[in-house]
Amino acid sequence: MSEDRYLTFALGKGRLAYKTLELFEEIGITCQEMKDKNSRKLIYANEELKLRFFLAKGPDVPTYVEYGAADIGVVGRDTVMEENRNVYEVLDLGFGKCRMCVCGPASARELLLHHERIRVASKYPNIAKDYFYNKKHQTVDIIKLNGSVELGPLVELSDVIVDIVETGSTLRENGLEVLEEVCPLSARMIVNPVSMQMERERIKELVGRVRGLINS
Ligand code: PRP
Repeated sequence: MSEDRYLTFALGKGRLAYKTLELFEEIGITCQEMKDKNSRKLIYANEELKLRFFLAKGPDVPTYVEYGAADIGVVGRDTVMEENRNVYEVLDLGFGKCRMCVCGPASARELLLHHERIRVASKYPNIAKDYFYNKKHQTVDIIKLNGSVELGPLVELSDVIVDIVETGSTLRENGLEVLEEVCPLSARMIVNPVSMQMERERIKELVGRVRGLINS
Protein backbone atom coordinates (compact mmCIF):
# COMPACT_ATOMS: atom_id res chain seq x y z
CA MET A 1 0.00 0.00 0.00
CA SER A 2 1.17 3.55 -0.65
CA GLU A 3 3.11 5.63 1.83
CA ASP A 4 0.22 8.12 1.72
CA ARG A 5 -1.98 5.96 3.85
CA TYR A 6 -2.05 6.87 7.52
CA LEU A 7 -0.98 4.23 9.98
CA THR A 8 -3.43 4.41 12.88
CA PHE A 9 -2.61 3.63 16.50
CA ALA A 10 -5.14 2.90 19.26
CA LEU A 11 -3.61 3.46 22.68
CA GLY A 12 -5.14 2.27 25.95
CA LYS A 13 -6.02 5.42 27.94
CA GLY A 14 -3.95 6.36 30.98
CA ARG A 15 -0.45 5.52 32.11
CA LEU A 16 0.10 3.04 29.30
CA ALA A 17 -0.58 5.68 26.65
CA TYR A 18 1.86 8.17 28.23
CA LYS A 19 4.57 5.51 28.47
CA THR A 20 3.96 4.54 24.84
CA LEU A 21 4.22 8.14 23.65
CA GLU A 22 7.44 8.54 25.65
CA LEU A 23 8.83 5.45 23.98
CA PHE A 24 7.78 6.64 20.52
CA GLU A 25 9.40 10.03 21.14
CA GLU A 26 12.70 8.33 21.70
CA ILE A 27 12.56 6.92 18.17
CA GLY A 28 11.53 10.26 16.70
CA ILE A 29 7.79 9.70 16.56
CA THR A 30 6.15 12.67 18.19
CA CYS A 31 2.60 13.87 18.52
CA GLN A 32 2.75 17.31 20.03
CA GLU A 33 -1.00 18.00 20.13
CA MET A 34 -1.66 14.82 22.07
CA LYS A 35 0.33 16.16 25.02
CA ASP A 36 -2.07 19.03 25.54
CA LYS A 37 -4.09 17.78 28.51
CA ASN A 38 -6.85 20.36 27.97
CA SER A 39 -7.58 19.20 24.47
CA ARG A 40 -10.88 17.38 23.87
CA LYS A 41 -9.83 16.11 20.49
CA LEU A 42 -10.18 12.38 19.99
CA ILE A 43 -7.82 11.81 17.09
CA TYR A 44 -4.36 13.28 16.73
CA ALA A 45 -2.14 13.19 13.70
CA ASN A 46 1.49 13.52 12.77
CA GLU A 47 0.99 14.72 9.19
CA GLU A 48 4.63 14.48 8.29
CA LEU A 49 5.01 10.83 9.25
CA LYS A 50 1.46 9.95 8.17
CA LEU A 51 0.53 8.61 11.59
CA ARG A 52 -2.72 8.94 13.51
CA PHE A 53 -3.28 8.24 17.19
CA PHE A 54 -6.38 7.88 19.30
CA LEU A 55 -7.00 6.98 22.91
CA ALA A 56 -9.56 4.34 23.80
CA LYS A 57 -10.69 2.40 26.85
CA GLY A 58 -8.26 -0.50 27.30
CA PRO A 59 -10.74 -3.32 26.55
CA ASP A 60 -11.82 -1.52 23.34
CA VAL A 61 -8.30 -1.38 21.91
CA PRO A 62 -8.26 -5.01 20.61
CA THR A 63 -11.72 -4.39 19.11
CA TYR A 64 -10.50 -1.38 17.09
CA VAL A 65 -7.48 -3.39 15.96
CA GLU A 66 -9.43 -6.53 15.02
CA TYR A 67 -11.81 -4.52 12.81
CA GLY A 68 -8.96 -2.57 11.24
CA ALA A 69 -10.14 0.80 12.61
CA ALA A 70 -6.61 0.92 14.04
CA ASP A 71 -3.65 -0.84 12.42
CA ILE A 72 -1.74 -1.05 15.67
CA GLY A 73 -2.78 -1.09 19.33
CA VAL A 74 -0.99 -0.81 22.63
CA VAL A 75 -2.65 -2.40 25.62
CA GLY A 76 -1.93 -4.65 28.60
CA ARG A 77 -1.50 -8.37 28.11
CA ASP A 78 -4.41 -8.85 30.54
CA THR A 79 -6.72 -7.13 28.05
CA VAL A 80 -5.28 -9.00 25.06
CA MET A 81 -5.95 -12.30 26.86
CA GLU A 82 -9.38 -11.35 28.16
CA GLU A 83 -10.69 -10.00 24.85
CA ASN A 84 -9.16 -12.82 22.78
CA ARG A 85 -9.54 -10.93 19.50
CA ASN A 86 -8.16 -11.85 16.11
CA VAL A 87 -4.99 -9.73 16.30
CA TYR A 88 -1.26 -10.42 16.16
CA GLU A 89 0.71 -9.76 19.31
CA VAL A 90 4.04 -8.53 17.93
CA LEU A 91 5.94 -7.00 20.81
CA ASP A 92 6.32 -7.02 24.58
CA LEU A 93 6.96 -3.34 25.37
CA GLY A 94 8.45 -4.23 28.75
CA PHE A 95 6.64 -1.59 30.81
CA GLY A 96 3.48 -1.88 32.89
CA LYS A 97 4.85 -5.02 34.46
CA CYS A 98 2.58 -6.75 36.96
CA ARG A 99 1.03 -10.19 37.56
CA MET A 100 -2.37 -11.80 37.18
CA CYS A 101 -2.97 -13.74 40.39
CA VAL A 102 -5.50 -15.70 42.35
CA CYS A 103 -5.78 -13.81 45.65
CA GLY A 104 -7.78 -14.16 48.80
CA PRO A 105 -7.51 -14.64 52.55
CA ALA A 106 -4.92 -17.21 53.69
CA SER A 107 -7.80 -19.47 54.70
CA ALA A 108 -8.74 -19.93 51.03
CA ARG A 109 -5.55 -21.94 50.38
CA GLU A 110 -7.28 -25.07 51.63
CA LEU A 111 -10.19 -24.57 49.21
CA LEU A 112 -7.78 -24.28 46.28
CA LEU A 113 -5.78 -27.28 47.41
CA HIS A 114 -8.82 -29.53 47.61
CA HIS A 115 -10.33 -28.29 44.34
CA GLU A 116 -13.49 -27.18 46.11
CA ARG A 117 -16.24 -25.57 44.05
CA ILE A 118 -15.40 -22.01 45.02
CA ARG A 119 -16.65 -18.59 43.95
CA VAL A 120 -14.18 -16.49 42.00
CA ALA A 121 -14.78 -12.76 41.49
CA SER A 122 -12.93 -11.05 38.65
CA LYS A 123 -12.87 -8.23 36.16
CA TYR A 124 -11.38 -10.87 33.86
CA PRO A 125 -13.93 -13.72 33.68
CA ASN A 126 -12.37 -15.29 30.57
CA ILE A 127 -8.89 -15.40 32.09
CA ALA A 128 -10.32 -16.77 35.35
CA LYS A 129 -12.33 -19.40 33.49
CA ASP A 130 -9.40 -20.48 31.35
CA TYR A 131 -7.15 -20.76 34.40
CA PHE A 132 -9.51 -22.78 36.59
CA TYR A 133 -11.16 -24.93 33.92
CA ASN A 134 -8.36 -25.56 31.43
CA LYS A 135 -5.22 -25.33 33.54
CA LYS A 136 -6.36 -26.49 36.96
CA HIS A 137 -9.33 -28.62 35.89
CA GLN A 138 -11.31 -27.18 38.78
CA THR A 139 -15.00 -26.35 38.52
CA VAL A 140 -15.69 -22.91 39.98
CA ASP A 141 -18.40 -20.24 39.84
CA ILE A 142 -17.16 -17.05 38.25
CA ILE A 143 -18.67 -13.71 39.20
CA LYS A 144 -17.89 -10.75 36.97
CA LEU A 145 -17.08 -7.45 38.69
CA ASN A 146 -16.04 -4.14 37.17
CA GLY A 147 -13.54 -2.88 39.72
CA SER A 148 -12.47 -2.87 43.38
CA VAL A 149 -12.46 -6.63 43.03
CA GLU A 150 -10.68 -7.04 46.38
CA LEU A 151 -14.04 -6.34 48.00
CA GLY A 152 -15.24 -9.78 46.86
CA PRO A 153 -13.74 -11.88 49.68
CA LEU A 154 -14.10 -9.03 52.22
CA VAL A 155 -17.87 -8.93 51.95
CA GLU A 156 -18.18 -12.67 51.27
CA LEU A 157 -19.29 -12.33 47.69
CA SER A 158 -16.52 -14.72 46.68
CA ASP A 159 -13.87 -17.01 48.18
CA VAL A 160 -11.06 -15.68 45.99
CA ILE A 161 -10.42 -13.17 43.21
CA VAL A 162 -8.44 -13.25 39.98
CA ASP A 163 -6.90 -9.83 39.63
CA ILE A 164 -3.86 -7.76 38.80
CA VAL A 165 -1.20 -7.40 41.47
CA GLU A 166 1.38 -4.70 40.98
CA THR A 167 2.91 -3.56 44.27
CA GLY A 168 0.72 -5.81 46.40
CA SER A 169 -0.34 -2.92 48.62
CA THR A 170 -4.08 -3.20 47.88
CA LEU A 171 -3.94 -6.83 49.00
CA ARG A 172 -1.86 -6.08 52.12
CA GLU A 173 -4.10 -3.24 53.24
CA ASN A 174 -7.10 -5.53 53.02
CA GLY A 175 -5.71 -8.65 54.67
CA LEU A 176 -5.51 -10.60 51.42
CA GLU A 177 -2.60 -12.37 49.77
CA VAL A 178 -1.43 -13.91 46.54
CA LEU A 179 -2.42 -17.57 46.56
CA GLU A 180 -1.42 -18.57 43.03
CA GLU A 181 0.13 -16.81 40.05
CA VAL A 182 -1.77 -17.05 36.78
CA CYS A 183 0.75 -15.26 34.51
CA PRO A 184 3.08 -12.26 34.24
CA LEU A 185 1.72 -9.16 32.47
CA SER A 186 3.11 -6.14 30.63
CA ALA A 187 2.17 -3.78 27.80
CA ARG A 188 1.89 -5.38 24.36
CA MET A 189 1.80 -4.08 20.81
CA ILE A 190 -0.89 -5.73 18.71
CA VAL A 191 -1.46 -5.52 14.95
CA ASN A 192 -4.43 -6.07 12.64
CA PRO A 193 -3.74 -9.18 10.49
CA VAL A 194 -4.62 -7.42 7.21
CA SER A 195 -2.47 -4.38 8.08
CA MET A 196 0.33 -6.81 8.81
CA GLN A 197 0.16 -7.92 5.16
CA MET A 198 -0.59 -4.60 3.51
CA GLU A 199 1.76 -2.44 5.56
CA ARG A 200 4.37 -5.09 6.26
CA GLU A 201 7.46 -2.93 5.63
CA ARG A 202 6.29 0.10 7.63
CA ILE A 203 5.17 -2.03 10.55
CA LYS A 204 8.28 -4.22 10.50
CA GLU A 205 10.46 -1.13 10.51
CA LEU A 206 8.54 0.42 13.40
CA VAL A 207 8.56 -2.77 15.46
CA GLY A 208 12.28 -3.18 14.77
CA ARG A 209 13.04 0.34 16.00
CA VAL A 210 10.96 -0.02 19.14
CA ARG A 211 12.48 -3.44 19.86
CA GLY A 212 15.99 -1.99 19.38
CA LEU A 213 15.23 0.77 21.84
CA ILE A 214 13.79 -1.62 24.45
CA ASN A 215 16.80 -3.91 24.18
CA SER A 216 19.36 -1.10 24.38
C1 PRP B 1 -5.73 -2.52 40.00
C2 PRP B 1 -5.99 -3.97 40.38
C3 PRP B 1 -5.77 -3.97 41.87
C4 PRP B 1 -4.67 -2.94 42.04
C5 PRP B 1 -3.35 -3.64 42.21
O1 PRP B 1 -6.89 -1.81 40.24
O2 PRP B 1 -7.30 -4.37 40.01
O3 PRP B 1 -6.93 -3.58 42.55
O4 PRP B 1 -4.66 -2.13 40.86
O5 PRP B 1 -2.30 -2.75 42.42
P1 PRP B 1 -1.33 -2.88 43.67
O6 PRP B 1 -0.85 -4.32 43.74
O7 PRP B 1 -0.19 -1.95 43.34
O8 PRP B 1 -2.06 -2.48 44.91
P2 PRP B 1 -7.14 -0.34 39.66
O9 PRP B 1 -6.42 0.65 40.50
O10 PRP B 1 -6.80 -0.33 38.22
O11 PRP B 1 -8.69 -0.11 39.87
P3 PRP B 1 -9.95 -1.05 39.96
O12 PRP B 1 -9.88 -1.74 41.29
O13 PRP B 1 -11.11 -0.16 39.86
O14 PRP B 1 -9.86 -2.05 38.83
